[in-house]
Amino acid sequence: MTSAIANPPVFNVPGPAPAPLLGATLNIIQFTKDPIAYTRQLFEEYGNLVSLVEGGGTRLYSPYSVCPGTVFACGPEVVRQVATQPDVYYKCPLTGPLYRFRNESARAKPLNHFLVGIFGDNEEAHKKQRKLMMPAFHHQRLGSYAQDMVAITEDELNKLEIGQVRNLSATMQQVTLRIAAKSLFGEDIGPEGASTGGILHAALAIQGSLAMRLMRYDLPGLPWHRYLNLVAEYEQAMKALLASKRARGCDDPDVLSMLMQVRDEETQEKLSEEELLGHVGVIFVAGHETSANALTWTLFLLSQHPKIMADLLDELDAVLKGAAPTLEQLKSLPLLERVVKESMRVLAPVPWNGRVTAKPTELGGYSLPEGTEVFVSLSQTHHMRDLYPNPESFDPSRWETFTPTAYELDSPKFLLKNYAAKGICCWGSGG
Ligand code: HEM
Repeated sequence: MTSAIANPPVFNVPGPAPAPLLGATLNIIQFTKDPIAYTRQLFEEYGNLVSLVEGGGTRLYSPYSVCPGTVFACGPEVVRQVATQPDVYYKCPLTGPLYRFRNESARAKPLNHFLVGIFGDNEEAHKKQRKLMMPAFHHQRLGSYAQDMVAITEDELNKLEIGQVRNLSATMQQVTLRIAAKSLFGEDIGPEGASTGGILHAALAIQGSLAMRLMRYDLPGLPWHRYLNLVAEYEQAMKALLASKRARGCDDPDVLSMLMQVRDEETQEKLSEEELLGHVGVIFVAGHETSANALTWTLFLLSQHPKIMADLLDELDAVLKGAAPTLEQLKSLPLLERVVKESMRVLAPVPWNGRVTAKPTELGGYSLPEGTEVFVSLSQTHHMRDLYPNPESFDPSRWETFTPTAYELDSPKFLLKNYAAKGICCWGSGG
């Protein structure tokens, strides 16, 4: 991808006009306040391909120097085009636009790899890194992670009291934070959560804030300063963790230790310290918040549908007989699988797949200049009436007979099954 474009081509994807005084800033604020509702309204008004603002000129995610505009898109055909053209649609580091602020100064240097990992790799580099990382996610490994998942979940469940009012989202964040820290780093961070995982979690919370967009000064008291402190703290803590694992021979049963051992088949090279720092942070973020969202929304939807909840509890009682589940028992819990699928359809834990066009292209009948950021809306695709009749209703039974194509579902698991062999899309642990 080139870094500058001599004659920026016309950006002609339709969208709402910029507001009279605030211009595109108002559209960005409206989007930031409620992204799903705002884009749903845009899709209804303009169709399956819509610009955040007419004429472009916005940037929400792209780290590249030129960004002609922001496009939202939905539907199986869009999903197909984006998923099957990895040379056209590039992924970007999870730091998004903040990646542009990396440099060689001591404060900003860690941004070169912080939350970059596999999201920063495209085409051949992406295939190579995925291949190196695969063993850590092999089915056999999941068995050992599953034991930790059960133990931590039971520990957190034991803290709940009947009649007590709890913030469900915070509780699920805590469960998945502990599970991610244990299975990725081998750390049981305990209830207080002060650890590498806790630092990452705090950095992420600042990264997404509006204040961060508006005041990027490295001065005490401001979010950018606090963010850079956390990034440095993460780097230090991770380096110490890497050193202690090396001293123990990288033999622990966690993802990080596995990644420290892998070697490239041809060159026999190991992952560098920078690559390890990038990969582990990204896997942590990709696995922790997504799973917390999925759990929170599933429990919320069950609380709104007591009959489905009762049927699910019957299934769990019949199969588990009051004991904690094992990995093997999952296939004997068909209603649970349908409930989770339907929950992730109705309230997608990851509503978007973000990409930036690496070259000029065409999508949905419109020309997209190089550098255009494209947000494929999984959420909107999952609510298309012709794909999912009565899309707003939570109806797990639709999955008894329904087998959508990978592009209609656009979930990591389905994409992996169908396309990972070509090395072109998502990881596949979710969905
Ligand atoms: C409900 C849970 C999850 C959901 C909904 C989910 C969703 C997603 C989505 C939508 C993508 C982007 C796909 C793309 O850009 O084409 C993705 C990528 C990824 N996810 Fe997940 N995910 C979940 C759980 C996890 C877990 C538990 C892990 C790891 C422990 C994980 C690791 C990753 C990684 C590493 C990628 C990048 C893959 C690549 O670029 O090749 N995810 N996930």
